[in-house]
Amino acid sequence: MKITLTDGRVLDIKEGETLYEAFTRQEVYLTASCGGKGVCGKCKVRIIEGDFECRNYGKLTQEEKQEGIVLACQSVVHSDLFIEIPEESKLIIGDKIAISRTKDLYRILQEYGVELSPLVSRLSLQLHHPTLDDNLGDLERIKRELQTHGLLLRFPKRFVDTLAEQLRSNNWSVNLCWQKDNNEALYLEPQIQKKSYGLAVDIGTTTVVVYLVDTETGEVLDVGSTYNSQIRYGDDVITRIVNATEGGLLSELRRAVVTDINDLLEAILKRKGIRRNEVESMVVSGNTTMSHLFWGFNPENIRLEPYIPTVNIFPVWYARDAGVKINPDAPVYTLPSVASYVGGDIVSGVLATGMHRRAELSLFMDIGTNGEIVVGNNEWLMTAACSAGPCFEGSGIKYGMRATEGAIESVSIDPETLEPKIKVIGDRKPIGICGSGMIDAVAEMLLKGVIDQKGNLQDAPRVREGEEGPEYLFYADSGKEIVLTQADLDNLIRAKGAIYAGVSLLLKEVGLDVEMIEKVYIAGGFGNYIDVKKAIIMGMLPDIPEERFHFVGNTSVAGAYLCLLSEDMRKEAERVASMMTYVELSMKSNYMDEFMSALFLPHTDISLFPSVKERLKI
Ligand code: FES
Repeated sequence: MKITLTDGRVLDIKEGETLYEAFTRQEVYLTASCGGKGVCGKCKVRIIEGDFECRNYGKLTQEEKQEGIVLACQSVVHSDLFIEIPEESKLIIGDKIAISRTKDLYRILQEYGVELSPLVSRLSLQLHHPTLDDNLGDLERIKRELQTHGLLLRFPKRFVDTLAEQLRSNNWSVNLCWQKDNNEALYLEPQIQKKSYGLAVDIGTTTVVVYLVDTETGEVLDVGSTYNSQIRYGDDVITRIVNATEGGLLSELRRAVVTDINDLLEAILKRKGIRRNEVESMVVSGNTTMSHLFWGFNPENIRLEPYIPTVNIFPVWYARDAGVKINPDAPVYTLPSVASYVGGDIVSGVLATGMHRRAELSLFMDIGTNGEIVVGNNEWLMTAACSAGPCFEGSGIKYGMRATEGAIESVSIDPETLEPKIKVIGDRKPIGICGSGMIDAVAEMLLKGVIDQKGNLQDAPRVREGEEGPEYLFYADSGKEIVLTQADLDNLIRAKGAIYAGVSLLLKEVGLDVEMIEKVYIAGGFGNYIDVKKAIIMGMLPDIPEERFHFVGNTSVAGAYLCLLSEDMRKEAERVASMMTYVELSMKSNYMDEFMSALFLPHTDISLFPSVKERLKI
């Protein structure tokens, strides 16, 4: 049977296959936050013609059903179909996306006062030609020469495989490249003047970012970024782990992210006129699940109690093992993880902000698809994962979406008329609301009395009864309405409550209060758009002076950059990881109390939010 799309593409579909499966197989990607379980309601398509069966309509409204809208992951077909994919269901991956670029990385490296020492070192060797009197073997000849430089290396078989030919074709004058961190010989190359390049890669749950770096100067030559195409197997790490294990899709998930990196790389190298083989080292930073999936390790135990990853401190492996299309012998360093839910991306964040080197009390927050936090200073670091879920990235929110074109990114509500004023990314017709818009919306609704301090919608203009209960209408035009439902508000309050409770509990563990925090670092793409005042009103961020908050952009790739260029930084990353005490919040008896207290706007204990108390009085 075949499916014809309104844009003219024709796909095939097998007996018993769902529309979502058929689309994914043929690289037509839909937003699928729940990974095809029928619960997120994001994979909507409109069937214009044909015989089908939708096993579960989930959250679709009566109106949507009448228009022929179905959930692609719940629908099988009985005849050829003619289908429209609505704009909000299309998953745009592979496109260049805006990323928060951490500026002046080289300055951070200089401030740390460390030498440039990339993963690959090279030494020029002028070997004596063998004679009947000097008849040492080729490898022994190299070792003899290395002794004069005080070097003792290990030689893997693959190095020796081509040794005889390499030495003779280069007339016994070669560069020997080796990996400094483990003293392993990598390869020989002719003695020609050449540049050396490396890659710093951030594998985020949502985005993949690649920096091409000149490893001799530290200059960032080019940057590429895209959505992590694992998104088609679910928005959050848990859904992906389930798909990788119970769904048997581990190799597909691995391939998806490696392909993303290779695609970005291909475009960058083409722009710069650099050959793949000239890229001779790589550093990867990601959360524990992303690192496991990148290396193809079964992530099952990350999800199962007692939550043990296969590896926290990754040995250095090679590009050929990863499938990344650079020099196959290029060493690949992976930022160490701390625990199942605090990974190398957070170690990178600490490394890039330098909070582990200063005496002042700092808080690092990465509010992305989950919500990891670190508090501490140069003597101690504590960390936790907040189980906030990916709702600030659109998941679990009826009209939630990522911060791309068409997303409502800021909201204000007129105090007199209670009419909302919205700003949409790309200045176009809105199709949904992203994280910063949601935070604005909750804060504004609270200040203007549209919701009470429990987050319950009040009797106010634009509040109406929808199919799923009360909802607030943000936007309406012919055929398109965007609402925030009571269930959405409850989800957002739970997410902000989890983040605040995590911060509060970590501090209490060491007998400190939130007002003692001298610096708050907010990392991640999401952090760039967040309005601190509104996030404080909502009770997500602590009520401390605004100047203590610092947006630090993508610190995951910044940490990867630092480790790409410096052995000291690689050692420091491992020291930071071992210095971080992981607190499993769910095992703490007082976590539930903290969480319940934070399920109020801004908090049950209003004295913790003095500035909000004043505003609410007004
Ligand atoms: S409802 Fe279909 S992917 Fe979530």
